[in-house]
Amino acid sequence: MKLAVNLAPHRPGGFWLANPVIAASGTFGYGTEYADLIDREQLGAIVSKAVALTPRAGNPMPRLYETPAGLLNAIGLQGIGVERVIAEKAPLWASWRVPVIVNLVGESIAEFCGVVERLSGVAGVAGFELNVSCPNVEGGTLFGDDPQLAAELTRAVRQRTDLPLLVKLAPTAPDLIAVARAVAAAGADALVVANTWPGMAIDLATRRPVFPGGGGGLSGPAIRPLSLRLVYRVAGAVALPVVGCGGVATAADALEYLMAGACAVQVGTMTFREPSAMLAILAGLREFGEREGLRDLADIIGAAQPRPVAGGER
Ligand SMILES: Cc1cc2nc3c(=O)[nH]c(=O)nc-3n(C[C@H](O)[C@H](O)[C@H](O)COP(=O)(O)O)c2cc1C
Repeated sequence: MKLAVNLAPHRPGGFWLANPVIAASGTFGYGTEYADLIDREQLGAIVSKAVALTPRAGNPMPRLYETPAGLLNAIGLQGIGVERVIAEKAPLWASWRVPVIVNLVGESIAEFCGVVERLSGVAGVAGFELNVSCPNVEGGTLFGDDPQLAAELTRAVRQRTDLPLLVKLAPTAPDLIAVARAVAAAGADALVVANTWPGMAIDLATRRPVFPGGGGGLSGPAIRPLSLRLVYRVAGAVALPVVGCGGVATAADALEYLMAGACAVQVGTMTFREPSAMLAILAGLREFGEREGLRDLADIIGAAQPRPVAGGER
């Protein structure tokens, strides 16, 4: 069965991945950390940890807290900064077959643009994923909650790179379809749906929030039905490839996302529990294809939708 997927069908040459299983940002480090545990070359792509203009220490501990079927995190976008990424990580990525997509973060449009300008043209960087679940310091709102702001950011980044550009949407947007349409019009090649959902936990002993900053982002199987619904809605409304993200732990979960209209999936939290899960998911997709007599995995993309979706027809 053909497994290759094109995440940028509107760009010359496209952005072809060998298969639709992608390591999500923040749970696979810079792609080097799991070297002894999983053959990364089998993956469709790897999304790096968030890269900002300057190094960030992140939030104080604790940063992770388990919930029923989920994980709360308040990492605070810890990272080594763009200059060290260029010096230490990109040269390694350039020697791999698997494409590495850099997850971009910033507190202002200027900061995002600064990171892209530094990274564009650097060997080893195959594309960008814009994390719009970041507060804009100028206005305080999340970039991804406001269609105009998200579009402004996407347009500014788009003008600074010819590489494939994925925009990873925030699930909290009051009108997610409006945000998806706005970033599509601003030049996004694909949409990732979605980032973590806001949540919190209270420490009964201290009677205070577990995380010093209050809340955190909820990931893992607990959010799958929520994010799956968003994928179904966005893929049904916007003619761009959608990458499903949220709680994928098995091939069945990945298939649900594909049938909802995603043309690929990202796997985050499950990698913490079982580092080889992504390869098991890939094997499960192959088995499904054989069992169902599929020639191309794309034949099931959007199968649950009333109309064909982007990536579902060739
Ligand atoms: C510990 C941790 C760190 C994360 N860091 C990032 C990040 O730097 N940038 C980003 O866009 N998403 C980040 N995420 C979100 C994941 O990429 C993913 O969107 C989310 O966890 C939902 O997928 P999952 O349920 O498969 O984990 C992080 C998630 C976790 C659990």
